[in-house]
Amino acid sequence: MNAASRPSGSGRIPRFALPLAVLLTFAFPLAAQAQAPQAPVPAAKEGAAAEGPTCGDCHEQSPAFSRSPHAAKAGKTGATPAAIEAACASCHGDGKAHMEAGGDASLIKSLKGGAATSTCLTCHIDSNAHSSFKTGPHAAGQAVNCETCHSIHASDVKAGKLLVKESTELCSSCHGSVASGFKTMPVTHHFGRGGLTCLSCHNAHGRAGREGLAYTKAGELPCLSCHADLRGPHVFPHQQNAGDCLSCHVPHASPNSKLLTRSRVDQLCFECHSPITSTTAGSGPPSSHDLRSARYRNCTVCHTAIHGSNRSPELLK
Ligand code: HEC
Ligand code: HEC
Ligand code: HEC
Ligand code: HEC
Ligand code: HEC
Ligand code: HEC
Ligand code: HEC
Ligand code: HEC
Ligand code: HEC
Ligand code: HEC
Repeated sequence: MNAASRPSGSGRIPRFALPLAVLLTFAFPLAAQAQAPQAPVPAAKEGAAAEGPTCGDCHEQSPAFSRSPHAAKAGKTGATPAAIEAACASCHGDGKAHMEAGGDASLIKSLKGGAATSTCLTCHIDSNAHSSFKTGPHAAGQAVNCETCHSIHASDVKAGKLLVKESTELCSSCHGSVASGFKTMPVTHHFGRGGLTCLSCHNAHGRAGREGLAYTKAGELPCLSCHADLRGPHVFPHQQNAGDCLSCHVPHASPNSKLLTRSRVDQLCFECHSPITSTTAGSGPPSSHDLRSARYRNCTVCHTAIHGSNRSPELLK
């Protein structure tokens, strides 16, 4: 490749200045130089003149890309053209033919849509979190893939992790009904309180198994990472006996007080402590509990230590 094979400045301007400036926020170095000499000129240019064209000659890195770990050396000011080209090539592949043709788009891996996924996974498959992509709820496909959530060149810098949007907003953009429950239901977890986001309970990349839940290191439900006081151990446990938090609570939002699965607390208890007759609660609540009397129906008025107790086998205190 030599200088003569490079497209002339005037020839290439109209072909790519617009899409790149608009879509990528890449600056256009030559035009910027001519019209506004004070605008920054990529360091790539001088080296490029000697060695032939490089990506940085025609595409300036977007600010988002410069901050990305993918930029490596190319993101720093004064990066050599070779470093920039190597960074670009790690995803777009060898761009020589593309450059020699003056930027023919058909001669470079475009990576738009789900097509990028296999490229991303060449590096990211090693981590446990991402290998679950094959099995998790967001297993790569056209509807959900790396690019629906991440953008290499145009991410929201404040959101971090190359995300297209802040995570809760991102999740809400597809899971509208879950998200709206958090806003409209009378009893909910509140975003921001205690640092709560969708990611407090879910792993974005999903895992094989229940709802991509972000289990604690000990393998417990994510609830316990915040409500650690309920973990016990209790001398007289209950919540562990009952299964887990989700035997009695819904996680997101509910019309019922305390996010309970039932509107009346006795109905919840009777799921396991079944009432047999109208005067007793069968094998569950003892016959001393006269269920015809309203005072017995609000079980947690007396059984206050409903998650477990260190003092009362009947969970009374
Ligand atoms: C001579 C100038 C020039 C050089 C050098 C150059 N490109 Fe391009 N590139 C273009 C132009 C012009 C387009 C836009 C083509 C279009 O929109 O039809 C483009 C488009 C692209 C696209 C989008 C393809 C698509 O299908 O939308 C990618 C990706 C790309 N270039 C990557 C690179 C990489 C990586 C390098 C370095 C290896 C590079 N370019 C070097 C001019 C160049
Ligand atoms: C980590 C992988 C990765 C690296 C590294 C990377 N890109 Fe990209 N690039 C992508 C993906 C994915 C897309 C398609 C999605 C998009 O448009 O954001 C893309 C799109 C593009 C496009 C087309 C944008 C459009 O909207 O038409 C250009 C041009 C481009 N990249 C140039 C570059 C250049 C130049 C470099 C090096 C400075 C580079 N890329 C480095 C992943 C990468
Ligand atoms: C050539 C290897 C390579 C390829 C291909 C690659 N990455 Fe990366 N990526 C890395 C390295 C290295 C890091 C930084 C170390 C780490 O966090 O694993 C990184 C970090 C990230 C991060 C974390 C960013 C941060 O701010 O912490 C995201 C998100 C990411 N990559 C997404 C992608 C996506 C999406 C693609 C495909 C378009 C992709 N990567 C392709 C190597 C690669
Ligand atoms: C449903 C949206 C979504 C999809 C699809 C997605 N990600 Fe992510 N990714 C996220 C979120 C959200 C984070 C931030 C996690 C955090 O901050 O805890 C993240 C973080 C990352 C990180 C930083 C390290 C980490 O795990 O925190 C890498 C690397 C990454 N993603 C790569 C990928 C790759 C590669 C793909 C495609 C195979 C992909 N992601 C698909 C939402 C997604
Ligand atoms: C681009 C759209 C999209 C985005 C963004 C997205 N999801 Fe999903 N999600 C889906 C699709 C599609 C499915 C699989 C179909 C289904 O079960 O609804 C799914 C499935 C799930 C499931 C499993 C549901 C089930 O019934 O098995 C959970 C949990 C989930 N997503 C949580 C999240 C979280 C948390 C985020 C934010 C990090 C997120 N999603 C971002 C589209 C998306
Ligand atoms: C307090 C923890 C927590 C938070 C915060 C949370 N989830 Fe969930 N989510 C769960 C649990 C636990 C389940 C499983 C429920 C079950 O199996 O009965 C679940 C189930 C889901 C499901 C599948 C079932 C359904 O209801 O459709 C989706 C989709 C989902 N969550 C998306 C989200 C999104 C999007 C956000 C943020 C807007 C979010 N979640 C916030 C804990 C949480
Ligand atoms: C990120 C921390 C966090 C996680 C994880 C979490 N919670 Fe909470 N939870 C809170 C905070 C803070 C409150 C106080 C109410 C609010 O959100 O304003 C709360 C309130 C509650 C309440 C009482 C609601 C009311 O208004 O009376 C219940 C019940 C509850 N959480 C159950 C759960 C369950 C079940 C899980 C697991 C699916 C869980 N929590 C996961 C932080 C968390
Ligand atoms: C056997 C059913 C059951 C199980 C299992 C259960 N809870 Fe509860 N939880 C309740 C009831 C009933 C209340 C309401 C108590 C009341 O009315 O005072 C409650 C109330 C709460 C509250 C509100 C604060 C309080 O103490 O009143 C939080 C937070 C909570 N539960 C979290 C959890 C978490 C986290 C788990 C799992 C570790 C869990 N619960 C397991 C039945 C249960
Ligand atoms: C998902 C099933 C489940 C639900 C719902 C449930 N429990 Fe239990 N509960 C159990 C199990 C299992 C035990 C342990 C029984 C044993 O050891 O024989 C238990 C034990 C108890 C005990 C201790 C005395 C005993 O029999 O060992 C009391 C008191 C109790 N439950 C009250 C309640 C109340 C009040 C509610 C409603 C707020 C409730 N339970 C909801 C499953 C449940
Ligand atoms: C007025 C207070 C009060 C209310 C309300 C109440 N209990 Fe009890 N419960 C007790 C006392 C006191 C004991 C232990 C003494 C006994 O065996 O009567 C007990 C014992 C129990 C036991 C353990 C039985 C055994 O044989 O060891 C269960 C299970 C139970 N209650 C469930 C319930 C359920 C379900 C409700 C709601 C329908 C309820 N209780 C409402 C006071 C109450």
